[in-house]
Amino acid sequence: MQKQILVTGGTGYIGSHTVVELQNSGFKVVIVDNLSNSEISVLSAIEKISGIRPDFEQFDLSDKTLTDAFFDKYPKIEAIIHFAAFKAVGESVEKPLEYYRNNLNSLMNLLDNMKRCGIAHMVFSSSCTVYGQPDILPVTESTPRKPAESPYGNTKAICEDILRDFCKVNSQTNCIALRYFNPIGAHPSALIGELPLGVPANLVPFITQTAAGLRKELSIFGDDYNTPDGTAIRDYINVVDLAMAHVVAINRLLNNNQKNNFEFFNIGTGQGNSVLQLVKTFIQVTGVNLPYKIVGRRAGDIEKTWADTTLANSELGWKAEKTLEETLLSAWMWEKKIRDIK
Ligand code: UFG
Repeated sequence: MQKQILVTGGTGYIGSHTVVELQNSGFKVVIVDNLSNSEISVLSAIEKISGIRPDFEQFDLSDKTLTDAFFDKYPKIEAIIHFAAFKAVGESVEKPLEYYRNNLNSLMNLLDNMKRCGIAHMVFSSSCTVYGQPDILPVTESTPRKPAESPYGNTKAICEDILRDFCKVNSQTNCIALRYFNPIGAHPSALIGELPLGVPANLVPFITQTAAGLRKELSIFGDDYNTPDGTAIRDYINVVDLAMAHVVAINRLLNNNQKNNFEFFNIGTGQGNSVLQLVKTFIQVTGVNLPYKIVGRRAGDIEKTWADTTLANSELGWKAEKTLEETLLSAWMWEKKIRDIK
């Protein structure tokens, strides 16, 4: 019997790649997404890659009545991967209540239903943003969390706390929070990838849109950081590697391999790369011209962070496999595909 997994936000960037890997691994998937930041055509792309069209329901998980009705309609769900959330750091500063309302209520509506329907397992989409600027690098899971820089980041920290407290009193519930570093790249088929609305806030979509001629030049935010070339350092993780981490986490939950019923793992490559290194690697692997200039630092940015992935490697048996070169190339192939560039 195929096990059924609910993937919230499954038409989004990381969600869609995860649905493909789940289906490739034999799971039956139902997606819930309100399409506020994704497109329905992603379902056909998923079908093209994996040969299976996942079930799909369009509604807002912060609506309790609709969420309850959904679980009544799908009584066989065994586990949930919860991606659906607002995720723009800058926007969250402008609209804090929208972020808290959406990100916290949707999680609590899901947890209510896990309890009501006896669903034991959840993988939660968390972020390295909970560590802020760590005092010691690389970041391990025992690195203390720091006060969030933005309402968005705070929703991730609060959601982790809600999960911890929920698991404490519901001993039959098992949760894993995956703290992602910086996901980039696209599926090697170039059929799914990141689809930012408007001007991209994140580095790699801005790079690929500039290379495609949609933007005049990339602004590099700051070259006066305490790093070898002065630009900020992040741990850029391939989105397919990241998707695989979810499959591994789901199997750990379904096979009852957890050490305790609320666990969290760093999901990164273990390598830090600077903005300039990323730009130079992109130019080198694609051969495309990329105009850029150095401007001042962006408010709220940290200087450097990268993951210690020892725990994910040893406990989950998961490791990032793709190189930065192939990942950046996949991002470019995707941009070319959606812009119809030959
Ligand atoms: N950057 C530029 N120019 C740009 C965009 C970004 O120089 O046009 C720089 C940033 O200043 C930063 C680096 O590229 O140094 C990466 O920036 P991103 O916006 O791509 O990613 P962040 O590290 O700022 O944020 C990401 C996710 C958040 C998450 C955070 C955790 O977008 O959701 O990682 O650290 F919370």
